[in-house]
Amino acid sequence: MSKGKTIAPTHVEGRSSRQAHADLPAGTYERELGREGFFGPASQMYHSHPPTAWSAIDGPLLPRAFDANKIGAAHASPWDAQRILSNAHVNFSLWRLDGAMADLARSGDGDVLLFIHEGAGELYCDYGHLSIRDGDYVVLPRGTMWRIEAAGKMSVLLIEALDSAYQLPERGLVGAHAQFDPAVLDIPTIDDAFRAQQGDGDWRVAVKRRGEVSMVSYGFNPLDAVGWHGYLMPVRLNWRDIRPLMSPRYHLPPSAHTTFIAGRFVICTFVPKPMESDPGALRVPFFHNNDDYDEVLFYHGGNYFGRDHIGPGWLTFHPAGLTHGPHPKALAADPGNVDGKHDGIAVMLDTRDALDVAPLPDGVEWLDYVNSWKGYLETDG
Ligand SMILES: [Fe+2]
Repeated sequence: MSKGKTIAPTHVEGRSSRQAHADLPAGTYERELGREGFFGPASQMYHSHPPTAWSAIDGPLLPRAFDANKIGAAHASPWDAQRILSNAHVNFSLWRLDGAMADLARSGDGDVLLFIHEGAGELYCDYGHLSIRDGDYVVLPRGTMWRIEAAGKMSVLLIEALDSAYQLPERGLVGAHAQFDPAVLDIPTIDDAFRAQQGDGDWRVAVKRRGEVSMVSYGFNPLDAVGWHGYLMPVRLNWRDIRPLMSPRYHLPPSAHTTFIAGRFVICTFVPKPMESDPGALRVPFFHNNDDYDEVLFYHGGNYFGRDHIGPGWLTFHPAGLTHGPHPKALAADPGNVDGKHDGIAVMLDTRDALDVAPLPDGVEWLDYVNSWKGYLETDG
């Protein structure tokens, strides 16, 4: 049975809606001030001006945007991937692979999550063989030996859960088969392709522990299992198999789209879905100060709320402390757009601890992103 909750009405002060994210008082902009990433105490504030309509920000705290398409160098090892953001609990990198990995890889630092942004190929690991394609997540449990033979060029988000493991979120009221049925998770198999790559020869395993790589050499391919059983294994999930939760009358918070949970961070996936149809419901994300979390959004495909300048392969970083929310064009298009569609596909990383931006090649960061919310007064009519 689902756990109960005390009946406790919410305080309403001044001119306010009685329902969050719907029926906003005329001429107002809603901002949510919340804790614990949409799960904790929260209030909605009704402002006379868009909360992101700042005229300037002086200081180190800035919304930032990066064009990962400009990270060009390919690496035969995932451990040489371009780090973009990190903290003590997660490494978030963009990895380009051209052809086959030179060696096997293994992380002693924690689980590895791959998200295939572009390309396709074959993954071989301790557990067998798995074909992979764009839009796939692949969870590789800590300690798994693996390698990829890409069919040409592949670009991959590499999200390392340092000292933790990826799990699925509790589904609560909607049950275990909502969003995706666990039966759609693919696992590697010991098939002919797997057996064909076994045999003698010189093989090396690039083992990463505490951020340092050691090479372990063998005179045979150590992916030599003839069988296995158990319930620890890599899994593959493609975003096309995610059936997103939605309400026609209420814009659900990002937490409704949580795909994986790890130690002190979550991964959410935004996939195409219809617009909310209730005339009074918000259709764009509400402005929010979700100040217990730093937020990273990677744009995989589709058109994400009509953002100018930002397209597939870009990522944005919104550190805790700054309000974020829809850009002027998206906000202007919201009212009455009931027949539209949310057609963006994006991967979100929300971290409980502050992220550091790694040194990046020149031109990757779009330095004018902080000014991209200007223009509400021209477009909000
Ligand atoms: Fe956010």
